[in-house]
Amino acid sequence: MSQLHQRRVIVAISGGIAAYKGAELVRQLKKQGASIRVILSRGAREFITPLTLQALSGEPTHTELLDEKAEAGMGHIALARWADLMVVAPATADVIARLAHGRADDLLTTVALATPAPVAIAPAMNQQMWANQATQDNLSQLSKRGLQIIGPEAGEQACGDVGPGRLLAPGAIVTALAERFTSRQLEQRRVVITAGPTLEAIDPVRFLSNHSSGKMGYALARACADAGARVVLISGPVELSPPDRVKLISITSALDLHKAALAEAPGADLFIGAAAVADYRVQHPASGKMKKGDDDTISLTLVQNPDIIAEVSHLERRPKMVVGFAAETHNLLEHARTKRANKGLDMIIANDVSAPQTGFGSELNAVHLITAATEEQLTLASKQVIAEQIISALAEALHQAAKSHPGS
Ligand code: CTP
Repeated sequence: MSQLHQRRVIVAISGGIAAYKGAELVRQLKKQGASIRVILSRGAREFITPLTLQALSGEPTHTELLDEKAEAGMGHIALARWADLMVVAPATADVIARLAHGRADDLLTTVALATPAPVAIAPAMNQQMWANQATQDNLSQLSKRGLQIIGPEAGEQACGDVGPGRLLAPGAIVTALAERFTSRQLEQRRVVITAGPTLEAIDPVRFLSNHSSGKMGYALARACADAGARVVLISGPVELSPPDRVKLISITSALDLHKAALAEAPGADLFIGAAAVADYRVQHPASGKMKKGDDDTISLTLVQNPDIIAEVSHLERRPKMVVGFAAETHNLLEHARTKRANKGLDMIIANDVSAPQTGFGSELNAVHLITAATEEQLTLASKQVIAEQIISALAEALHQAAKSHPGS
């Protein structure tokens, strides 16, 4: 299955003769299962129409920065946040210059500046423009800032010149983009992840639960699978489809989760508790639907659920690393540090759920990774990008541990 399956990709097409190849790129990315939103610059619209791209992507094409109708649908900031990846193909010398200077004078450059997702550019221009020191300086600036530069290739150009500056073939651009999502950091590793809320029954039709969307846990599962791990995802009820190459175990209550986690965790390399487990369950759920009586108030007796992650971290065949989450509304770091120590975790990932941008259900996150010895901050980015950074840090920690205790 392609690494691009279910990825959300913005394809931004700028105005050069290679713009028509942007259409082919959209078609090929779509074939890989990616969701595509297309931005057409004003120049690109001289070469290719929004309607062509709408037909290929299956979504309205974005063209203007300040367009009332477009802003009412998916505005430019929402579009920037939606993406897992943005690729500018073809990127003209002018767009490269404007990106290098952080300009935001049209939709394409504004979204490139506003997106927390990684940005790739596939340059295409006349060979003399490519060779110009101004272009090369701009590219090296962008490359230093972490933008991926794909191509160009050398060959015969539309203007009759021969030399470097031709847009790389769409198939080669797709391959370069897919590779971004592939690493072998967790090859041979077994990972167990819990995600989503638990539902605690009151009677057959009512329950106690929480606002967890499962997005962070699912993003972590996907990042682990992309890094080559065998992944078991134990999930409460969420409205997400499981990532490819992941074994899903669906659960409802904290007790279900407890049972599944204790069956899967022993001997794993990594256990990540991203589920929002209900701390309490109803002591005696009613077997039939509870009827409204005459009383103004009623009481439910709740009993405490087992602390699943604390049990996992004290298992005889304990996973090599046990990682928990601390979702807090106040005193974030203090509560997180205490939780990590009390539950015997190798790492706790602290996130502030009171902030509107990083709360439950949001597409973005910003977290602190806290171990006994270190604290690292990951700044605001899409949940998928944050997940990849977390997994990279954990893979490195597993690697270091294996080096200092070979055979363990
Ligand atoms: N967790 C767990 N089992 C529980 C409760 C929590 O495994 N019964 C895990 C969560 O999956 C998470 C971590 O523990 O990784 C912290 O969850 P949180 O609800 O913040 O911790 P609590 O110990 O319940 O603390 P609080 O009093 O803040 O609810």
